[in-house]
Amino acid sequence: MLDPARVRAVTSSLRIAAMGTYVPERRLTNADLARSVDTTDDWIVSRTGMRERRIARDDEFTSDMCLAAVRALERNGGSLDAVDFVIACTVTPDYAFPSVAARVQEQLGLRRVGAIDLGAACAGFMYGLDVADALLETGRARNVLLVAGESLSKITDYTDRSTCILFGDGAAAALVTIDRGAPATVLARRVNSDGAAGRELFQTGLRSEIGGVVSPDRYLHQNGRAVYEWALTNITAGIAELLAQAEMRADEIDWFVPHSANGRMIESIAKRAGIARERMLTSYELHGNTSSASIPLALAPAIADGRVKRGNRVMLYGFGGGLVECGMILRWS
Ligand code: UT7
Repeated sequence: MLDPARVRAVTSSLRIAAMGTYVPERRLTNADLARSVDTTDDWIVSRTGMRERRIARDDEFTSDMCLAAVRALERNGGSLDAVDFVIACTVTPDYAFPSVAARVQEQLGLRRVGAIDLGAACAGFMYGLDVADALLETGRARNVLLVAGESLSKITDYTDRSTCILFGDGAAAALVTIDRGAPATVLARRVNSDGAAGRELFQTGLRSEIGGVVSPDRYLHQNGRAVYEWALTNITAGIAELLAQAEMRADEIDWFVPHSANGRMIESIAKRAGIARERMLTSYELHGNTSSASIPLALAPAIADGRVKRGNRVMLYGFGGGLVECGMILRWS
C-alpha cells in the first residue's frame, strides 16, 4: 500500500470564479414527514440534524434547477461569455439522454461548447471539479461551467422512513477557470472507488438486480448503517491522506466542506479527523441530503457572505453511491 505521506498531489491552479445556487420553493419539514411515516422530529434531528428539505414541483426537473442556478451565478458576477465546456453532475437527469448538460447548453444559448453529464452520485460535484481541472490543465478547455443538480424527491420512496427523511432537491453552478502561472490552488486530492459496496446504495436501471437484491421499483435504496460505517472509516482515512499530501495539520484547515449526508455522521468524521465543528460548512439542516448539490449549496453562501476568503485552505470531500469518494484541499483564490 502507498504511504499517504509519500503521495504527492497533482497540483494545479484552478479557480472557482463565481457560484450560484437554486432550491425549489416547496419545503418539506420533519413535522410533514411525521404525518406520513412512523417517525418524529426528535428522531430525525438527533440522528441526522436535518430540519427540512426542498421539493421540486412535478413539472420541475434537474435541468430547470441547474439553469436557475446558472442564472444566479450570472447575478453574482459570473460571465458565460468564454464558457467552452459544460459538465452537469447528476444522478437524476431529466432523461437518460439527451444529457442535462446539453439541455443547459441549449437554454443558455451557448455555442461551440462540449457538454457531458457526470454520474458520481454524492461525490458528483467533486468529481466534476476534478474533471474540469483536467480539461483546464491540459488546455482542452478554458472556462468550464460546472453544474450539479438533483431531483431526488422523484426517486424517493415516501413510504420508506429510512430514506425519505434524508433527501431533498436543489442545484448549484460554478464557473471554473485556471490562472496559468499562478501559485497552486489544488494542494491535495484523492479520488477513489469501492464498487464492491455498490449494493449498499443504489437505484436500479435497465438491470434490476444488484448484488443478489432484485429491485424493479426504480426508487433509491440505501443500507444506511453500512454506508455510515463505510464513510466513517474511509473518509476519515481520506482526510488523513489529504493532509499528508498537503503537509498540513487538521487545525490548519480553515473550512471543511464534506458532503452533507447526515450531520451526526459528518460531525463524527470531523471530530475523528481533529477538525472543529465551527470550521465546517454544511447544507443538511435546511436542504437535507441533496447529493451532488450538497457541497456547493454549503460553500456558495459562505463565499457570498465573505466567510471563505482568499488564501483560506478549504477541504472539500464528496462521497456516496458507487461507493465513490473525491476530496481536495484548495487554497482559495
Ligand atoms: O449520501 C450518500 C451517503 N449516505 C450516507 O452517508 C447515509 C449514511 N447513513 C445514515 O445517514 C443513517 O444510517 C440513517 C439516518 C439512514 C439511519 O440512522 P441510524 O442511526 O444508522 O439508524 P439505523 O439504520 O441503525 O436504524 C436504527 C433504528 C431502526 O429500528 P430498530 O430496527 O432498531 O427497531 C430503524 O428501523 O431506527 C429505525 N428508523 C427510524 N425510526 C424513526 C429508521 N428510520 C427511522 C425514522 N424514524 N425515520
